[in-house]
Order: sequence, then C-alpha cells, then structure tokens
Amino acid sequence: MTAVVIVGAQWGDEGKGKVVDIFTEQADMVVRFGGGPNAGHTLVVGDDKVVVRLIPSGILHPRTRCVLGQGMVIDPASLFVEIDELVRRGRLPVELDGGRLAVSDRAHAILPYHVTIDTLREQGRGALGTTKRGVGPCYEDKVGRRGLPLGALRDMDKTRAIVGAALEAWTPVLQALGGMAPSVDDVMRTLEPLAARLVPLLCDTSQLVEAAVRAKKKVLFEGAQGTLLDIDHGTYPFVTSSSASAGGACVGTGVGPTRIDKVFGLVKAYSTRVGGGPFPTELDDATGERLRQKGAEFGSVTGRPRRTGWLDLPALEYAVRVNGLDALALTKLDVLTGLGDLKVCVAYRAADGSARPFPIDDAKGTMPVYETLPGWTEPLDRARTLADLPKAAREYVAFIERRVGCPIELVSVGSRRDETILLVDPFAG
Ligand code: GDP
Ligand code: IMO
Ligand code: MG
Repeated sequence: MTAVVIVGAQWGDEGKGKVVDIFTEQADMVVRFGGGPNAGHTLVVGDDKVVVRLIPSGILHPRTRCVLGQGMVIDPASLFVEIDELVRRGRLPVELDGGRLAVSDRAHAILPYHVTIDTLREQGRGALGTTKRGVGPCYEDKVGRRGLPLGALRDMDKTRAIVGAALEAWTPVLQALGGMAPSVDDVMRTLEPLAARLVPLLCDTSQLVEAAVRAKKKVLFEGAQGTLLDIDHGTYPFVTSSSASAGGACVGTGVGPTRIDKVFGLVKAYSTRVGGGPFPTELDDATGERLRQKGAEFGSVTGRPRRTGWLDLPALEYAVRVNGLDALALTKLDVLTGLGDLKVCVAYRAADGSARPFPIDDAKGTMPVYETLPGWTEPLDRARTLADLPKAAREYVAFIERRVGCPIELVSVGSRRDETILLVDPFAG
C-alpha cells in the first residue's frame, strides 16, 4: 500500500488529526485535499496540544513532506498565523521552504471579503452555522470562475485584476447584507506582504504528489470535515462547500483514482455535529451533555459546543458506500465508559413502519430504530489490544463491524498517540 486516503465518516471531528499523526510515523508525504481553515485537527503529543487548520496533521514529523493540494481554499493570513505559531513552538524550522511544506499554486485564496460575506450571512435568516472562515464564498468564486488561484500571486497586476472583478460581483451582495465592500487597494495592501511569503512555497503539487505515489512512497491523503458535510453526498444544504469524501482526494490533488490503494473511514463511537442541519440520533438530554463534557465536544475552530447523539449505523453504512471504505478506525470509545446502557441506531422507519434509508436531506417523518447494548464502567485508556478491553466494549466494536460489514482496523481510546489499539498496519499489503 502506498496511497492511503483518510476521511471522516460522519459530520467531522472524528479524530482525523490524531489518526493521521500516528500513521505519519511511516509516511513520506501527507496531503490535504479539500476544505480550508474551517478544519480543526487536534494533535496531542505528551502534554502538548496542537490544533492545525490548513497545515496537514503530519507536520510534527520532520521527515514527512506536507502538501496543501489544489482542492483547498487557503487564507494566506491564517496560514501564516499557523506557521508562525508552529515555528514559535519549535515545531517548524524558522527558514521554511517548499521541501517541508508545499502549497498548490492552483488552490484558491480566501480573501478578507469572503470572510466578511460568510460572517454577515451567518447573522441573517439563512444562517447554516458555518465556521465564518470565508470558505463558502471562496468556493463560490472558484466555481463562478472569478476566484484567485494562489499562482496568480506571482503577478500582482494579474491579482489586482482578478480581485477587482470579484469585488464588482460581490459589492451588491455585501451592500444587501448591510456591509461595505473594501477597495481593491485595501485588499492589495493586505495581500502584498502575504504574497511575498507565500510565493516561495507554491508549486505544481499535483506533479509532486503523483510522482511520490508512482515512486511507491507512502502517501497519506488527509480528509477534512466528513462525508455527511460533503457538498454532493452530505446533508445538503447543511454541508460545507467542498468534496469531503474519498473522491475529493483525487479531484483535490490531481492523483487518479486507479492510484489509490486504500480508503480509511474514521468514525466516533457516538455522533456529533457542529452547526445546523438534520441529526436524527441527537440527544438533547443529560446523556447528550455527558457525552459533550466527557468527550470535550467543543469545536476546535470556533469553540462552539458540539451537538451530540448516539451512533448512527445507517449513516455509517452510507459513508461506507459513498466512500468505498476498505476499513474503519473507531475513535473515542473511552468516552462511552460509565454511560450505562448504550443505544445504537440500526435502522430508520417511516410512520407506517416501513424501512427507510438514512435520511440524508430531511429527517422529518423518519424515526431512528435503536438497539440497546450493555455499557461498561472500566476506563479504556490503557488498553493496547482488543483483549485489554472489557467484554462489553469488545462487543460494541464487534457489533459495529458486523452491522456495517467493514473491518475496524484501529480503535482509539484517548487523545494521546499511545492510547491506540492498532490492529492492522495501514500501509500493509
Ligand atoms: P478532527 O477534526 O477529525 O481532526 O477531530 P478534532 O481534533 O476536531 O476533534 C477530535 C477531538 O477528540 C480532539 O480534541 C482529539 O484530541 C480528541 N480525540 C481523538 N481521539 C480520541 C479518543 O480516542 N478519545 C478521546 N477521549 N479523545 C480523542
Ligand atoms: P474538521 O476537519 C466539523 C461545518 C460547520 C457548518 C458547515 C459549513 O475539523 O472535521 P463552513 O465553514 O465549512 O462553510 O461550514 O460545516 N464544518 C465542520 N464541522 N468539523 C469540521 O472540520 C468542519 N468544517 C466545517 O460547522 O455546519
Ligand atoms: Mg475538527
């Protein structure tokens, strides 16, 4: 195996950062393929906690090359805040070059007006609960063919023309939202010093990544968000604006589907969601609150409390299908300790009792059907093999595996690197 894709199988925050960090021990390259600073991936090393947004979660491993692919939208200001923080903490060299961190010259720039539009829209009636990082408006510009590919920053006259045209399109929108459009000069003044720093990191990452895969290097494709937030396959319109599922790894990097060896889906032992949208197994009660407190379910980007609920197996089966998952990693199993009996949604039914698939777009009129599994009281963080888990926890893992028909190859029992039961080498085979 050389090319391994890792995607969230739920609504994001499944623990992609932790798992990518662990797998990177063996990887030559880690590539982000979509999304932008709406992502928040947490890495815990000893007592140190690092949250990365744009930078791939492999960054803590000095011999691994990190790549920001062209499917991403990148706020240059936010990228340098992140880089400077990592340098300050001794996690990145002061003299950073494209050898350690390469950025696609075809990824699109998030500009200050994208953030303003996202923020103003969130104050209105159509609010979706976005992260207000300008991600949606930036992808709108990309698809509207008036976006700013980062490569344009090599030529500031070209950049000025693109920004001017985009601002012309956005000005009436900004005014209707009660905001004001910045002048082209304002935007250029912000952009110029950032461009000077960014341009040396830019390259054709598609060639870089494809060459690494062809040379049989170990390459991890790190998903952001999750399948149910995918623009095509998620709970539309309560989704993000990119391809967060496995297909996005090809579109967002320039590596063809025949080159991908394995697709890994990450799933929490329960469900969470940040922002609006359907969430049929949501718990608005004391159990939901216990999950939130015990699982520290507060957004790593916005600090918002995450909505919590029981594990949803029809949703997971859906994620297995649309991603073609080869294997699962089950995370945060330790959070279920002491919760009492555990419910798992195994099906959906309409009012007349007939079976329904996972309600992707509208949960109205569809009821989750639960099975109850015994819980356990023992802490799990010291478990390093399945045999170390209490019987009920082992049965919970086996139940999921059996129901969705996809092997669980990793079980995570804490946020630290060693709090992991690794059952199969991700690059084996
Ligand atoms: P990501 O966006 O998928 O990378 O996930 P986040 O980093 O946003 O959220 C996952 C949170 O759970 C982070 O705070 C992790 O440190 C933490 N975490 C990851 N795996 C585990 C686990 O197995 N158990 C516990 N208790 N926490 C975990
Ligand atoms: P990671 O990579 C959880 C959600 C937002 C909102 C919707 C649209 O850390 O798993 P956007 O700002 O993307 O336009 O918001 O998507 N969202 C996430 N939820 N984890 C994420 O990323 C998310 N990125 C976006 O909360 O509901
Ligand atoms: Mg996150």
